[in-house]
Amino acid sequence: MKAINPSQIQDTFDYHEQTKHHFHRFARSMGYLDWANQPNPFRFYKGAGSVRLPLLGRDLPVSYLELYERKNRVSRLFCLESLGAFLELSLGLSAWKSIGDTSWALRMNPSSGNLHPTEAHLILPPVLDFGSGVYHYAPYSHELERRAEVPTAIWNALNAHFGTSGFLVGLTSIFWRESWKYGERAFRYCNHDVGHALACLSFSANLLGWKVIYLNALSDEEIRTVFGFHAARWNPHEQEHPDLLCFVDVDPENEIPRHIPEEIVQSFTTLAFYGDPNRLSQTHVDWDIIVDVAESTEKPETEPIVYDCTDIPLRIPHPLPHLSATQIIRQRRSAVQLDAATSISKDQFVCILDKTLPRCFCAPFDVELGEPSVHLLIFVHRINGLKPGIYFFVRNERDFSEIKALCHSNFLWKPIECNFPLYLLTPGNCQYEAASVSCGQEIAGDGAFSLGMIARFKNNIEDAPDCYRRLFWETGLIGQVLYLEAEAHGIRGTGIGCFFDDPVHQILGFSDNAYQSLYHFTMGGPIEDSRLTTLLPYHHLNQEKAE
Ligand SMILES: Cc1cc2nc3c(=O)[nH]c(=O)nc-3n(C[C@H](O)[C@H](O)[C@H](O)COP(=O)(O)O)c2cc1C
Repeated sequence: MKAINPSQIQDTFDYHEQTKHHFHRFARSMGYLDWANQPNPFRFYKGAGSVRLPLLGRDLPVSYLELYERKNRVSRLFCLESLGAFLELSLGLSAWKSIGDTSWALRMNPSSGNLHPTEAHLILPPVLDFGSGVYHYAPYSHELERRAEVPTAIWNALNAHFGTSGFLVGLTSIFWRESWKYGERAFRYCNHDVGHALACLSFSANLLGWKVIYLNALSDEEIRTVFGFHAARWNPHEQEHPDLLCFVDVDPENEIPRHIPEEIVQSFTTLAFYGDPNRLSQTHVDWDIIVDVAESTEKPETEPIVYDCTDIPLRIPHPLPHLSATQIIRQRRSAVQLDAATSISKDQFVCILDKTLPRCFCAPFDVELGEPSVHLLIFVHRINGLKPGIYFFVRNERDFSEIKALCHSNFLWKPIECNFPLYLLTPGNCQYEAASVSCGQEIAGDGAFSLGMIARFKNNIEDAPDCYRRLFWETGLIGQVLYLEAEAHGIRGTGIGCFFDDPVHQILGFSDNAYQSLYHFTMGGPIEDSRLTTLLPYHHLNQEKAE
């Protein structure tokens, strides 16, 4: 195990400070968009063989509650069709939008600025027709690109280690895709997006009766090795940075080890890797601070940890949302404008918050990222049965008294219900305040509610600087739950990465970095942009065939 260098901790704190937006100054970026060099949101490995995955013709017959619950579920057989469904419903395309001559693809997973820095790679067993290998998932064509063959001996060793049937899926980030628009703050957005994508994988697996488990002991270097990144011929500034590797248990009754033995990892260095990553932009801008923070937050190999969480029953909304789990996933969209009128009931609000609590038998928090560290500062605007005002939702009791002690002393901390960790801090209309701290974005004041995700920061990073990335992943998991809950309850959500950091902290009374706001979110009645045309997600494949 590698010792932490104190400069890694300081550099991580410095990155965070330097990339804060302030009322008087935004974090450094180009300040304009160089459209001629907009990075291609689709990566391909040219020269790697490809396998077209089947598209799910009809939706899976799973109900709203089965988005979350993992109880008494029959697992789908692992085959080409189910693998295709797993990837389509997590990272596949969900629609194309167009206006005039411009069109752009949208995906099941959201992404800051729709720039999609996240890529997925899989290590698949030989049971599929096309054999065991390391694959890249190409969402544009819903294909797997085969980057290496994995000999049976290596797969057998993996199989024996995990002791159950399944496969590996991992996520990586291309920082340039985000820094092209967002400059220095882009590293944060890449990590939010990883969290969203991980939640999407977890939900999608759950619908098939499978379970995604984060392999928390692995180092970034080990992930690079199994994905063959040592052999990839990256274009400058366009390399993929390893984020995480998960095991997908297709028969989830088993305890999964959270590591891969070193000798198995090293056996991947002997494989021949094919395919050259496509070039995403002609020219690039250097953002050294991102290279530095990626280095400071590099994850070393650590002891495998199994996290235990509570098994409190889920709160079931009344009436139950009528959409199926698959419909909810497919129709998820970010609202660009909210109507400043739609309200939801207190029961809906409480049920929505309840889904963000970590539970052992529920997606997506059972991927087990680590001890939950993110809480919600909520601006309530239009909830029937609840006064407008500022509320706090405590997702991990461990932090409750510490947070309370750091906050303004005149907060009420009035519980809203017995045995539910939601507290009223101060009543009053906070629409202006909510919008103003979210970079003046009206959607934060025009919804039923909006929120800031408040993470236990200083101690986590002092214990392990790589936790910086994990905190953003946790906010992405929460954000994805909120997106889906919004759809289920007939409203719409939007993730908000642009907010004024310290003004949010001042609302609570924080004067140091013990806790920091890392991500915002809003939900309300959407106003659709009627100028846009919507096209089917894979219409271009039929066109290509016809041409
Ligand atoms: C991490 C993150 C940050 C975002 N920040 C903002 C934001 O500050 N303002 C906004 O209007 N939308 C924001 N969005 C919404 C994205 O623009 C949206 O996800 C993207 O355009 C793709 O559209 P879709 O979510 O409908 O698929 C954010 C999304 C994510 C995932």
